Amino acid sequence: MEKTWWKESVVYQIYPRSFNDSNGDGIGDLNGITEKLDYLKELGIDVIWLSPVYQSPNDDNGYDISDYKAIMKDFGTMEDYERMLAAAHERGIRIVMDLVVNHTSDEHAWFVESRKSADNPYRDYYIWREGKDGQAPNNWGSCFGGPAWEYDSRTQMYYLHLFSKKQPDLNWDNEKVREDVFEMMDWWCQKGIDGFRMDVISMISKTPGLPDGKVGENGYGDFGPYVHNGPHVHEYLQEMNQKVLSKYDLLTVGECAGVTIEEAKKYANLDGRELNMVFQFEHMDLDGGESFKWNDRKIDLVELKKTLSKWQYELYGKAWNSLYWCNHDQPRMISRLGDTSTKELREASAKMLGTCLHMMQGTPYVYQGEELGMTNTTFESLEDFRDIESINAYHQYTQNGQIAPEDMMRYLCYKSRDNARTPMQWDDSGNAGFTDGVPWIKVNPNYKEINAKEQMGRADSVFHYYQKLIRLRKEHEIIVYGKYQLLMEEDKNLYVYTRTLGQERMLVICNFRKETQEFTMPEGFEPGKGEILIGNYEGQEIKKSMTLRPFEAMAMKF
Ligand code: GLC
Ligand code: CA
Repeated sequence: MEKTWWKESVVYQIYPRSFNDSNGDGIGDLNGITEKLDYLKELGIDVIWLSPVYQSPNDDNGYDISDYKAIMKDFGTMEDYERMLAAAHERGIRIVMDLVVNHTSDEHAWFVESRKSADNPYRDYYIWREGKDGQAPNNWGSCFGGPAWEYDSRTQMYYLHLFSKKQPDLNWDNEKVREDVFEMMDWWCQKGIDGFRMDVISMISKTPGLPDGKVGENGYGDFGPYVHNGPHVHEYLQEMNQKVLSKYDLLTVGECAGVTIEEAKKYANLDGRELNMVFQFEHMDLDGGESFKWNDRKIDLVELKKTLSKWQYELYGKAWNSLYWCNHDQPRMISRLGDTSTKELREASAKMLGTCLHMMQGTPYVYQGEELGMTNTTFESLEDFRDIESINAYHQYTQNGQIAPEDMMRYLCYKSRDNARTPMQWDDSGNAGFTDGVPWIKVNPNYKEINAKEQMGRADSVFHYYQKLIRLRKEHEIIVYGKYQLLMEEDKNLYVYTRTLGQERMLVICNFRKETQEFTMPEGFEPGKGEILIGNYEGQEIKKSMTLRPFEAMAMKF
């Protein structure tokens, strides 16, 4: 397999609003990021994926962009951006920008023009349709509740918005839209950025005719089959690749809602015609899924192993995987699969989850605070939430009586995206050292126990464990390029797999339970010949049979 830097890198995702506030207005900013680059250097990551920093009215925290070539005022200026980029590059850290081009903000100049009149030159930049019998053009629901169409009285037509009504969908079938997007991407590449994370890029090509979808639990038609991996998506990405991506040395990752293995092999093919890799969602959706995420079901380990292994097997040698447990749209994985009831269990399970993910094949992504074992938060009332999806869902399902308020509150506390968006916990001073002012969203009350300062000063912390996981990837090619094989498929408690590269082999064992587990070394792995690369308990030894402690994990090389 061809060796490339993006296969060998570890990416760290920053959600700027919640990372570090440098001027006391309660909102994280670019200068705040620059201040923390040495922290990231110490962690050892290679690349930062920056969630959107463009000008935005913040209906969806920057995923609604009103000017792609300007920096959001809350976050600073273009000079601040350039200073941050240069300071990152000085430290050998690359910066990947979030590219949100399925939709813009309704305050973007293109949309402001588009909605003026039916014959405006920008009309066809968006998806406008006549109503049907005084109703929306089709039955689709939006991802953030309510219909996917908004009526505009000026021209008496509807525009499509798969997300909030302040996020109108661009019409990618219009060549001018594609040209303008590509020109904007090139402009950022010229500035020296190192790649793009492409927001819901699998949704840019809609099936002509926009057929009604199957009505789901939210009362609306599901647009999925007519939007995910639509008819021209690969053609448009190949065009983007030819016109922009191929001219630079970039890391590209597509956020691909609804992606299947077959589709991923096209998006992320090693032939380099489209993108480097995709984010798939199958393992995230095992406890309810995008179809209906509001519940507090637990992920089944056997299902999780099957799903992740399928991606490992099927993309091997054909396309490239991305590996993630957490991002700004997901609750904290430690609160889903780990145990946060005591410090010992919390740290053991955080390290176990890190081991399980980082020893697989693919490019690992660490979401801010994951390297500290940051957990879901505890919000008391709806007023504490900031996320548009969570707030809308609460109203929608409690008002129509579908879900009782106390149940919905419990689901929000378990699943809301705001769990990932509470401020980064830097130290045990007020507001976790995130801001001198009033934070835009409440700090997780556990910051006195969980914070970067304490962990950097302690050798057995989650931080130092992640640091080692990241370093090992640089020291052992097998972690990057080795072939994956799942063992003990049906075991309900252990996740065990091997990696193989030439004569070398690795064995990774992870106990996903707080109960101890008996484990016998598989055939062909001679205890005396193995070396422990990393493990989350003191004094571990490789033995023919072992009693694995709560959330114990070990990666061994043979
Ligand atoms: C992606 C983003 C999410 C955003 C949505 C609309 O899923 O990750 O945060 O709300 O797209 O842009
Ligand atoms: Ca600020």
